[in-house]
Amino acid sequence: MNDKLLFRRAKSASGLAYAPYSGFRVGAAALTASGEIFEGANVENSSYGATVCAERVAVSNAVLHGHKDGIVAIAIAAFSDGRDHKPSGFVVAHPCGICRQFIFEFGADIRIIVGKDEDHLDVRSISELLPQGFRL
Ligand code: THU
Repeated sequence: MNDKLLFRRAKSASGLAYAPYSGFRVGAAALTASGEIFEGANVENSSYGATVCAERVAVSNAVLHGHKDGIVAIAIAAFSDGRDHKPSGFVVAHPCGICRQFIFEFGADIRIIVGKDEDHLDVRSISELLPQGFRL
């Protein structure tokens, strides 16, 4: 599974998002060492703080299927519907702070793949995105 293919899966997962409040539909695809892919998308809520991000849904999906020690990469794709004069279409979106910490829990070397399209991907480890992540 290469980065472009994983990113494509994240793009397709963005179509599953429930994002009526922001119009920002995020998809994530977590790749495991066994070669399986677990998808996620953001799920918003009327009580905005109850919203869950795509990355946390994808990681939880992988963990619940037995891959807590096997996540190797996560691709993220974000589609903006262009409301409020924002750009419309796919845009680059790095994981938010909470998601960085959530991902770090399952491996400091997990590769994070983001981009606007599959020919312009930015790939960094979660440790680079979250230096000195918290561990209990
Ligand atoms: N969002 C994600 O799904 N992942 C992130 O890393 C950042 C933000 C979602 C949450 C909310 O539904 C929408 O994007 C706008 O913040």
